[in-house]
Amino acid sequence: MIILGIESSCDETGLALVDTNTGLLAHALYSQIAMHQEYGGVVPELASRDHIRRALPLLEQVLQQAQLDKSSIDAIAYTQGPGLAGALLVGASVACGLGLALGKPMIPIHHLEGHLLSPLLSSKPPAFPFISLLVSGGHTQLMLVQGVGQYTLLGETLDDAAGEAFDKSAKLLGLSYPGGPAISRLAESGDPSAYTLPRPMLHSKDFNFSFSGLKTAVLTVVKNHPGVLSEQDKANVARAFVDALVDVVVAKCCAALRHTGMKRLVIAGGVGANAQLRAGLNAAAAKKRFDVYYPELEFCTDNGAMIAFAGALRCKADPQQAQYDYAFTVRPKWPLSELSGIT
Ligand code: KG4
Ligand code: ZN
Repeated sequence: MIILGIESSCDETGLALVDTNTGLLAHALYSQIAMHQEYGGVVPELASRDHIRRALPLLEQVLQQAQLDKSSIDAIAYTQGPGLAGALLVGASVACGLGLALGKPMIPIHHLEGHLLSPLLSSKPPAFPFISLLVSGGHTQLMLVQGVGQYTLLGETLDDAAGEAFDKSAKLLGLSYPGGPAISRLAESGDPSAYTLPRPMLHSKDFNFSFSGLKTAVLTVVKNHPGVLSEQDKANVARAFVDALVDVVVAKCCAALRHTGMKRLVIAGGVGANAQLRAGLNAAAAKKRFDVYYPELEFCTDNGAMIAFAGALRCKADPQQAQYDYAFTVRPKWPLSELSGIT
């Protein structure tokens, strides 16, 4: 079967085609980052309007890449939630309109399931079961994953997500949106001994996180600094922030592996692209003898391939997942725990 995937939950329009037998055929992405940068973050209404402009040209692009015609699409997967309501509505309406016109069934996908399964798109995919660390702009969760649709939440952030902490701290340092890549680059030239920031919940004997205090600690350093921060000062703060965040995330992952007896750790989400986090996890994996898997860099942040792929895996496990149901609803707030499994 050939599955078309449509992602539009935030500020990226992503489309992709996946063959349930051979894998990814084509994918195309339009990022709205440049448009939102001027406002220092995502403006939801602008995001929705831009998704409308991009969706159909991207569809043409993936069909051309795969050298296929619309009629060869067998089912359409789209992000139903969570995300920005208006942005989700654009993707859902394009998907369902297309499905209705072509007479093809629909597969609504949970955005986080897309992220969670995205490492399976890589050339060396992990086998089930595994511990999943989902670190994105909106979520930070540790899950036990036993198969497609079989997710047990072990812990999550009690306040800001890891990506959110990156973005907010970057803003405090005067860096542009999105802050993750900017802080990461700056941290490379930072002196690790200049500042020490708190490691929130490092010793809480659970798998939860809390990052809003870390962001406040960055604010305190910035506020208490006499005069304007030099580039080197900013790099030092960025380094202290990254070191603190990585320490906590690595420790929690190791604890979750220990607790469950798992030997595979699978990373997903935008912060999974972070070089310092990858280095910290790789070092822990070598020391504690577990395997760590990452999505390809281009599939860490939002994309259509992960949605098409999640649709393909769901369909493969249970063909009933694809339904001729074009009366779409979106779910801007949709806990992964409410996602129906595969029977
Ligand atoms: O997964 P994603 O594209 O969107 C959500 O579903 O939230 O993640 C976006 C987040 C942003 O907060 C961004 O700053 C962060 O991922 N991010 C990074 C890096 N690349 C993206 N954070 C740290 N280092 C990076 N290299
Ligand atoms: Zn995402």
